[in-house]
Amino acid sequence: DQYKKLDENSYRQCLCNHSVPSHLYFTPQSPSYNYFFFSSVRNRRPLLNSFKPLVIFLPAVENHVQAAVLCSRSLSIPIRTRSGGHDYEGLSYTSTSGQFVLIDLQFLSSINVDYKNSRTAWVQVGATLGQLYHAIANQSSTAAFPAGLCPTVGVGGHVSGGGFGMMSRYFGLASDNVEDIRIVVASGEIVDRQSMGEDLFWALRGGGGASFGIILAYKVRLVEVPNKVTVFTVSKTLEEGATKLVDEWQRIAHKVDKRLFIRTLFKVVGNDSDEHDDQNKTTNRTVQISFNSLFLGEMKELLLIMEDCFPELQLKAEDCIEMRWIDSVLYFAGKGYQGKPLSSLVERYSPVYNSSFKHKSDFFTKAIPSEGWNRILRRFLEKGEQPMMIIDPWGGRMDEISETETAFPHRKGNLYNVHYLTQRWVEDDVAVSMKHVDWLRRFYKFMTPYVSKNPRAAYLNYRDLDIGMDVMGNKTSYWEARRWGERYYKGNFKRLAYVKGEVDPNNMFRNEQSIPPLFSS
Ligand code: FDA
Repeated sequence: DQYKKLDENSYRQCLCNHSVPSHLYFTPQSPSYNYFFFSSVRNRRPLLNSFKPLVIFLPAVENHVQAAVLCSRSLSIPIRTRSGGHDYEGLSYTSTSGQFVLIDLQFLSSINVDYKNSRTAWVQVGATLGQLYHAIANQSSTAAFPAGLCPTVGVGGHVSGGGFGMMSRYFGLASDNVEDIRIVVASGEIVDRQSMGEDLFWALRGGGGASFGIILAYKVRLVEVPNKVTVFTVSKTLEEGATKLVDEWQRIAHKVDKRLFIRTLFKVVGNDSDEHDDQNKTTNRTVQISFNSLFLGEMKELLLIMEDCFPELQLKAEDCIEMRWIDSVLYFAGKGYQGKPLSSLVERYSPVYNSSFKHKSDFFTKAIPSEGWNRILRRFLEKGEQPMMIIDPWGGRMDEISETETAFPHRKGNLYNVHYLTQRWVEDDVAVSMKHVDWLRRFYKFMTPYVSKNPRAAYLNYRDLDIGMDVMGNKTSYWEARRWGERYYKGNFKRLAYVKGEVDPNNMFRNEQSIPPLFSS
């Protein structure tokens, strides 16, 4: 309509006045709009009930991002920022409250690794984790960076929200290993650690970037890993004693040698076809639990540690593979990457993303009683869904960093993070979507007695709009936003809101779960 046209044209003109070339700018009428829009859509579900961008702008240099911020501010056009597009609720590429401009940072993806002199790397936000890992490994086989498992995840969102991976028990989160940040703030200025001040630098490590500006790049600290690391995956079904094993595992995994990370992956295996009758469904289905592990050391030492701390798993040399750290990245990246060359780590796109999903998260602060595991696994086998659950052990380095050192608060006292997943689905259909989402919501409710309380904590990078959202577009007060804010940030939420009040008092950078500004009286 006329209103939208006006906005588009003024925005285009404004960018043009800032010397931005017009080929970086797409409206729904442009032939390449869909190509660029979907190039970083990792979950189609949010597209069912929200707005798509009025304009997609792909900055090629840092100044273009400044121009985008200045134009959005002068024309009052909301912004969404996308780096890798993995936000679980699609907040980087959709909006429930109206039209917006999408700033897609995929072209800002340079990586400069300085292993020899400073053991650091400057990485622009549009790079993926796989590209960062690959660039580091090109300089040294014993240099690494502790961040997430999926190579296509964008550095931009991941690092600012925390960034947990197979080495976090030893090195902490990605955000714990950030030395500097360059960001465009609401005034249009580019600031770095020195000029932004420690409060904003604190907030951007765990508080997410979307409430504060548009992050351009991070300077990250590289870590040293051994020449050889060891990986294993041992899978057991319920019939093979998986329940007893997981019960033992939960007692040790958060307190073993911090070089050892053993996570568990729960999935339903067997027949769940609707064509089968009820009897067939219950008899064929079972839960398989995989003990999936990285040890920062050689196999013979791992076997000794396992014999001592988790003999019930009966880990054997044949179960273990020694490899370089960079090869372990491919190993943990999932089935699609196994057997592929290292160069596959730099690919941005995976066909699996052309589908939908819903995930949720929790933290455990105490062990689950044996009877609890039986109940959970029975519930997991409910018909109609093929759920997954991934439980990551905390402890080690995560316990050594205080809750307030960065904005990421989930530290000592947490034993595990749990990640609930539905199977992905391909239908762009509200009823199908609701069926999966409802299942997960019921399962989440069922888990209430076993998980953290007051608040029931959640991990920002596993974004979940069910825990609360702004439905009015810019109207949510600090007090209302505590509903989700304290679940993601616990006691750090208030300080985050004050930082927001300082750097973005007019709440230019906002979304359905952003941090509202708070002002000291
Ligand atoms: P995206 O571009 O969608 O951004 C996410 C959020 O950050 C949005 O709110 C966005 O606006 C904001 N943002 C993005 N770039 C910004 C910038 N430059 N400046 C300011 N704000 C910005 N997590 C984990 O800890 N460990 C893991 O192993 C995995 N694995 C994993 C696998 C898969 C397949 C998915 C889909 C997700 C994960 N995650 C994860 C979760 C992931 O860390 C989380 O979704 C990140 O926010 C993704 O960052 P992207 O840049 O890709 O997302």
